[in-house]
Amino acid sequence: MKRLLVATAAIAALALIGPASAQAPIVLKFSHVVAPDTPKGKGSEKFKELAEKYTNGKVKVEVYHNSTLYKDKEELEAMQLGAVQMLAPSNSKFGPIGVKEFEVFDLPFLIPNLAALRKVTEGPIGAKMLKLLDSKGMVGLAYWDNGFKQMSANKPLRKPEDYKGLKFRIQSSKVLEAQFRTLGAIPQVMAFSEVYQALQTGVVDGQENTWSNMYTQKMHEVQKDITETNHGYIGYVVVVNKPFWDGLPADIRGQLEKAMKEATAYSNEISAKENAEAREEIIKSKKSTIITASKDELAALRKTMEPIYQDMEKRVGKQAIEDVMKAVNAGTN
Ligand code: LMR
Repeated sequence: MKRLLVATAAIAALALIGPASAQAPIVLKFSHVVAPDTPKGKGSEKFKELAEKYTNGKVKVEVYHNSTLYKDKEELEAMQLGAVQMLAPSNSKFGPIGVKEFEVFDLPFLIPNLAALRKVTEGPIGAKMLKLLDSKGMVGLAYWDNGFKQMSANKPLRKPEDYKGLKFRIQSSKVLEAQFRTLGAIPQVMAFSEVYQALQTGVVDGQENTWSNMYTQKMHEVQKDITETNHGYIGYVVVVNKPFWDGLPADIRGQLEKAMKEATAYSNEISAKENAEAREEIIKSKKSTIITASKDELAALRKTMEPIYQDMEKRVGKQAIEDVMKAVNAGTN
């Protein structure tokens, strides 16, 4: 009897790893919410290309762009259930599943440029943060850039007072909620896939996003003004379902790690250019006016938003904020 059980277990185990070694490829579904023509869209396609190449077709990556498989909140739930294997949600979206530390990246005017960001993501802080995801049934594989956020509405947003009473769509982050409340605006959490329509129909008055996200979702066609503030950063954590990842044969996992490393380098290399090009396209379209906030206007915005740092200590951790600030400023003093 015991022998029979052992044999049955062995057959079951073989069936599990079978697809890797035999005919049918292992399918890895990679779902995300933005357009193919963005840093994340292109990064996901690059990963697919390299993963299929390095595994010799033993892994088939199915990329689902533009929320075609899942929307923001659903995708993280689906990942935890194992219905999808890979995602790249923005840092701002991990709060609802209980990893609020990533909201540190939402603090306004924290990250001055991509070089400063790398000091966080590529150093010990970044590695420690990725480890937090293990307890949520996922493995954090990499940080991918999008870029810096601008503010859009149907009016220029030069002064903090200009935000008063306006409804802004936000991602699901308490730091972003605090940011708009500090300005006297009304923040509203909404899935990325619903933003265009909400702006078009006036459900919300404005939003904040990167050039590439605004352009590829055509937000500039339904927002008269975009105020260039670069006040915050949008970046992603590429995550993979932990049982799936741990269950892969070691050689395949190694090949996928190599593919991820190279796709990350690629995506982070093109991000700034992608956003600059999207900005140019928006200017060319003449559908939206770009207002570049002056130094004084930015200083006033920054000053108004400053109390958020202290208010959010309880949410993201005082130490976490201090550590990130220290890493960001390392070498600049
Ligand atoms: C947003 O929801 O505005 C962004 O996080 C979308 C994305 O994935 O870039």
